[in-house]
Amino acid sequence: MSQVEIKPGLADVPVAQSGVSFIDGKHARLSYRGIAVETLALESNFEETTWLLIKGELPTQRELTNFDQSLRQRRSLHYRLIELLKQLPENGHPMDSLQTGVAAMGMFYPQRDATNPAQRWEASLKLIASIPTIVAAYARLRQGKDPISPHPDLDHASNFYWMLFGTVPTPSVRKVLNACLILHAEHSMNASTFTARVTSSSLANPYATIAAAVGSLSGPLHGGANEEVLQMLMEIGSVEKVKPWLDEKRKADPHFKVMGMGHRVYKVKDPRATVLQELAEHVFAESSRPVLYDIALALESYAANFYSAKGVYPNVDFFSGVVYRALGIETDLFTPIFAIARISGWLAHWHEQMKENRIYRPEQDYIGKMDAPYVPIDKRP
Ligand code: ACO
Repeated sequence: MSQVEIKPGLADVPVAQSGVSFIDGKHARLSYRGIAVETLALESNFEETTWLLIKGELPTQRELTNFDQSLRQRRSLHYRLIELLKQLPENGHPMDSLQTGVAAMGMFYPQRDATNPAQRWEASLKLIASIPTIVAAYARLRQGKDPISPHPDLDHASNFYWMLFGTVPTPSVRKVLNACLILHAEHSMNASTFTARVTSSSLANPYATIAAAVGSLSGPLHGGANEEVLQMLMEIGSVEKVKPWLDEKRKADPHFKVMGMGHRVYKVKDPRATVLQELAEHVFAESSRPVLYDIALALESYAANFYSAKGVYPNVDFFSGVVYRALGIETDLFTPIFAIARISGWLAHWHEQMKENRIYRPEQDYIGKMDAPYVPIDKRP
């Protein structure tokens, strides 16, 4: 029996020093570079928050204007990347097309030397600017429609909406989209961010690093949860069915997990869920209040009877899907939108990692055989 203590999932094991974001999971606090995320969601926009995360300070007006212009200039994809997206199956998942597109970008854009600060910045701009274009282009191509070219007069969030639908969002939709991107932009050492840090620690090129992070984000225990939440709410179908639905699930599986609830760090309600909920209520007040939102509220309230003692409460993804659905966005685009936001956090951690890089090479506790004989194939049972 091994005496080595393993921490499954590396729970509570620090793997790097970081100044990017801070979470206090007991008191529902999250800040980016010291600024409360609630303030950023209400006061800032995605471009400004991205600069803050990567550069460490809020930009001056001039820095922000230049950054915004640099992003707008890099939104278009090489035509052969669009051709590549056209070759992908239309029934594939958009996270897979995003991962493919990001990895392929590394073959089209030569500024990808992770040891060169100027190339690091150029690749960062290209990635932030182009990821929404890949997501929107694939979303349309799979429906047999042509991609819509980026709109140079629109901000980052509005341009994504434009490339999806061909219309300019209303000011309140623009506000809620910006807030969603800000709330999902960064979250310390989560699985995809750690993936990015591990991949980049070999000095892999930035496109390979971000493609790896996209793959990690796609899983249902991480970014994929927002899609699963919506499917779950639709499966429940009505507020009256919440109690019998959860009772039945718990009876069938005592370890049943409600999607969009629970978090490794938060043991109270995720502050991002609270902000998102407030914004969602503003949007719903202007249009109609979706029944899925009422189902989510009823589920939150009934689930508390069983899970609050374990510190399991709604996380950010419990409400994000309901908001995106209300904006007319298809369910399987929810996780790609998470990636459109999280690129900021991934890049912030990548720049931090590159400043004092050492390749990740942890240890294992070997529990396999020793001195096993090699048996020739004709002698094996
Ligand atoms: N529903 C019901 N019970 C839960 C839930 C849940 N969603 N999450 C955790 N629990 C319970 C577990 O059953 C466990 O109970 P036990 O001690 O009686 O066995 C206890 O809470 C601890 O749960 P773990 O799974 O050990 O927690 P861990 O930190 O490993 O996992 C995770 C965190 C993956 C987020 C988990 O809560 C989960 O699977 N949630 C559902 C998926 C989800 O919403 N993911 C999105 C996370 S946020 C994000 O990536 C943006």
